[in-house]
Amino acid sequence: MENIDWSNLAFGYMKTDYNIRCSYSNGAWGELEVSDSEYLTMHMAATCLHYGQEAFEGLKAFKGKDGKVRIFRMEENAKRLQDSCEGTMMAQFPLEKFKQAVIKAVKLNERFVPPYESGASLYIRPFLFGTGAQVGVKPATEYMFILFVSPVGPYFKGGFQTTPFVIMREFDRSAPLGMGKYKVGGNYAASLVAGAKAHELGYSNVFYLDAVEKKYIDECGAANFFGIKNNTYVTPKSSSILPSITNKSLMVLAEEMGMKVERRQVPVEELATFEEAGACGTAAVISPIERIDDYDNKISYKFSHDGKPGPVSEKLYSKLRGIQYGDEPDTHGWVTVIE
Ligand SMILES: Cc1ncc(COP(=O)(O)O)c(C=O)c1O
Repeated sequence: MENIDWSNLAFGYMKTDYNIRCSYSNGAWGELEVSDSEYLTMHMAATCLHYGQEAFEGLKAFKGKDGKVRIFRMEENAKRLQDSCEGTMMAQFPLEKFKQAVIKAVKLNERFVPPYESGASLYIRPFLFGTGAQVGVKPATEYMFILFVSPVGPYFKGGFQTTPFVIMREFDRSAPLGMGKYKVGGNYAASLVAGAKAHELGYSNVFYLDAVEKKYIDECGAANFFGIKNNTYVTPKSSSILPSITNKSLMVLAEEMGMKVERRQVPVEELATFEEAGACGTAAVISPIERIDDYDNKISYKFSHDGKPGPVSEKLYSKLRGIQYGDEPDTHGWVTVIE
């Protein structure tokens, strides 16, 4: 096998041996199929290409000290994909089939699961899209589910680090009655210009406010927000953000650590009161926030602790990573160990 420099992998695509596919026609899903091709042929009038009938997921598998591979909360991703399918009128992929596909892909590509010491992991990307041809704006009658995997490097190459975010009111990612709560491709297309501008200005990502009043915090880039103050974990409740599985897990861990958890509207001015702030998601678990600059009002909210993440973020991060890699006991049944 080619030599992979595990600890210097980026968050990018690397070809692995196999992907899993499944197609839907005549009202039913077929059997899972194994493919070694990275390509697909489809009808040029497929609804995914014209009307955005597409949804995806992202989860990870981790190799433990014991050499065993663990998959984190795949049932939650399976359910969220079903929700996204409901929101785009696509055929829902059965939960059991989703789990079988994940396990099959991880097993078939086991040589690509990075070793424990590298701090890297195997990213799993399931996606589902309309393949049937339509010219009118209508849902397809045929769909395809594909799942590929790719080893990805540790998010923090030089250790757990803070980065700056920026509030820019000229961009919205999604609307309260729109698609923000689903993981559909269009939301990410809608975030590219804002993300590029934020990067250009030296920020790691955009910090979105609610699209109607620009009063409450929504999300940060492709991650949920949390703030810490007075032994309380505060995270936005909003109909235009993606329900993050990492956030859901951190809320449970925070409560177990004796913290109060509040899921509610978070006014932007409240940023001034947080002792720590972070962005959470599968990619980084927690990406601690150094500061959030309000670009339009020239205000800066600072959270860094002498340039380092705060102690609560650090503790939550270590605990969740510990569970994922098998260093901490999995008391919630979040982990599937591949036998
Ligand atoms: C828009 C958005 N918000 C939040 C998240 C975090 O969700 P999760 O913790 O399930 O990865 C993601 C995906 O990673 C996302 O794309």
